Amino acid sequence: MDVGTQRAADPHRSLHSDTGGLPGEHPGRSRDPLVKVAGLAWLEFEKPDLPRAERFLVDFGFTVADRTPEAVVLRGHWAGTPSLVVRRGAGSRFFGPAFAADARADLDRLARATDSRVVPHRGGQAVELTDPSGFPVRVVHGVPDLPALPERGPLPLNFGHDTARANGTQRPARRAAQIQRLGHVVFGTTRFRAALDWYLETLGLIVSDFLYLDGRRERGPVMAFIRCDLGTVPSDHHTLAMALQPRTGYLHSAYQVTDLDEVAAAGEYLRERGYRHAWGIGRHIQGSQIFDYWRDPDRLMFEHYTDGDVFDASMEPGWAPLSASGLSQWGPKATARFTGTRDPGVALAAIKALTDKGNEVDFATLRGLVKAMAS
Ligand SMILES: [Fe+2]
Repeated sequence: MDVGTQRAADPHRSLHSDTGGLPGEHPGRSRDPLVKVAGLAWLEFEKPDLPRAERFLVDFGFTVADRTPEAVVLRGHWAGTPSLVVRRGAGSRFFGPAFAADARADLDRLARATDSRVVPHRGGQAVELTDPSGFPVRVVHGVPDLPALPERGPLPLNFGHDTARANGTQRPARRAAQIQRLGHVVFGTTRFRAALDWYLETLGLIVSDFLYLDGRRERGPVMAFIRCDLGTVPSDHHTLAMALQPRTGYLHSAYQVTDLDEVAAAGEYLRERGYRHAWGIGRHIQGSQIFDYWRDPDRLMFEHYTDGDVFDASMEPGWAPLSASGLSQWGPKATARFTGTRDPGVALAAIKALTDKGNEVDFATLRGLVKAMAS
């Protein structure tokens, strides 16, 4: 019996993809993580021109929660911590993520294990860590929540005989999105395996899906979609995704909106205002979200999404080959604008990645990644 059949026959193993892990492959979770974080709290960026950064982010669908000459803090409509902290900096760059600890004691545990300290931060406390890719990672607790803002609910839809809207019309407003909350962040890294294991062992995240290079599965995964382990409570399919790449850096971050009309109408609004579209509208495979990707004026990528999968801790990792066409079930083909393969810096980064010690990129991997992005 093959592994797929075995799993399908075993009611205790629920599998959401065609194939699961084989014996000896990465299990996708740590048996004894240091802590289990409760979620992604916010993302931090640096921007040289704060008013310009704010203009895009408000057009994208955020609301300003706080503004000083040195930083702007942006939020979604749902109650909770803000989604973004954008500080004035020399250039435009992603700084790092902040995860929410489940309990104050988890910060002490993290501080002890990493020889760091718990420090006051934004009205609560934080531990400041660094992941193996070099990203600063904050874990926070006790930061006061912002109250919910009023938002439009999902539109009433007519489905065949099931008419929720008799004698009514459908007129979604073409305006900036009403972002509900931060969903996930995606990094490229030259130290994928080290970073993956760090997030599983240190923050207790668990893998929803692994992608490998076709023909090189035995070399291990090159991308992982990773969620929070909330036990029996379902959690976003991915809060963090990481991919082995010739250079380490931010790829995109994603924000939930209420429904497909919100994704589409907000996209039209961005298009009318002259912003650069990257890819969409489509529906992903890993996570199933309906997505639409945009670039800010400095080319950083931001995603609107709706209708994403949520998994509880019982779901085992799926395994599939990486390909550009495998990033969506429907929608336009993933463009070079999205994959970044035509970015002039990529070739140089690839050469550097081959010569730098301590990273996980070799020539065969680079060739496999290029092939995957063309397939
Ligand atoms: Fe995404």
